[in-house]
Amino acid sequence: MAPPSSSAPPTNATPAPDLASALQLPHRPRRNRKLPAIRGFAQETWLAPQHFIYPLFLHDGVGNLPIASMPGCQRLDMDGLLAEAEAALRDGVGAVVLFPATPEHLKTAFAEEAYNPNGLVQRAIRALKSRVPQLIVVTDVALDPYSTAGHDGLVGPDGRVLNDETVAVLCKQALSQAEAGADIIAPSDMMDGRVAAIRATLDAAGYTDVSILSYTAKYASAFYGPFRDALDSAPKAGDKKTYQMNPANAREAMRELALDELEGADMVMVKPAGPYLDVIRRVREATSLPVAAYQVSGEYAMLKAASANGWLDERAVVLESLMAIRRAGADVILTYYAREAARWLREDDSPPAG
Ligand code: PBG
Repeated sequence: MAPPSSSAPPTNATPAPDLASALQLPHRPRRNRKLPAIRGFAQETWLAPQHFIYPLFLHDGVGNLPIASMPGCQRLDMDGLLAEAEAALRDGVGAVVLFPATPEHLKTAFAEEAYNPNGLVQRAIRALKSRVPQLIVVTDVALDPYSTAGHDGLVGPDGRVLNDETVAVLCKQALSQAEAGADIIAPSDMMDGRVAAIRATLDAAGYTDVSILSYTAKYASAFYGPFRDALDSAPKAGDKKTYQMNPANAREAMRELALDELEGADMVMVKPAGPYLDVIRRVREATSLPVAAYQVSGEYAMLKAASANGWLDERAVVLESLMAIRRAGADVILTYYAREAARWLREDDSPPAG
């Protein structure tokens, strides 16, 4: 019998005579794919708006500014941020992560603006928490937006990125974000020992309920290019290979994971996501903590550009890429597509036609 197509009901149409003798196959996996409801029984992974964290760029001016290499994303002003956050919540996305663009004149060698209680991020957190208190606010801990050198850490006289001196500044930054009302602190800097130091700082100040989502396995990836355009935060000299991980390494991610667990991380992250699905899987199997993955700016830009050219079907490839990240083992996905994907998923929730 001819296999029914996915949309048509099964028929008993007589097969063509030359195909009439059925193969004696004991196993026919296609039986579990023959109709939408049966595919539903067999489905192993789900994608829903509750899995998304929505990254937002802010700037301290008036009006929302486009980002050339990330069409559809903007550097938002304060009103734009609040409007986008409310819209995200309406779309079912429960969390945002904030990335500020710092004007050149506020960048310094010691990145003091990172812990200015009236800095852009600190004001944004307070505004979000008073306007949309249900929305979870995640903040990034790293010095690159605030440092003249454009590195995630302080740079010594010989050009090296200093670890322990940086951790002291990261603690001040994390504390100022917690004081402003951040729910989750996400250190993306990859300095050694920063999770333990931030945890101790937060606890000593009474912020025992503020979570740490550690960028556990953050790779020295070329896929961050558009993000650095968006924030004008590319390193002025050198690269980030002395602190971010070598893309060739997966075992090393297990070591970072073990340390982050010991240091008190509440959730762990792999970044980028799509090119590092094997790392997501290994982290998933090695930890009982929630695992996040960051579909980064370069992944977004690739999907946008190919779709804009008509080379890929945007909705289909975006949902497939996000499902693949979930299948690899991510509980949570940071994605610039959070709002659109949430809307597409809601449309998909309408009962299947066939
Ligand atoms: C900063 C930071 C980066 C990203 C998140 N936090 C850039 C970098 O490390 O250079 C990248 C996010 C993206 O590309 O979407 N520490």
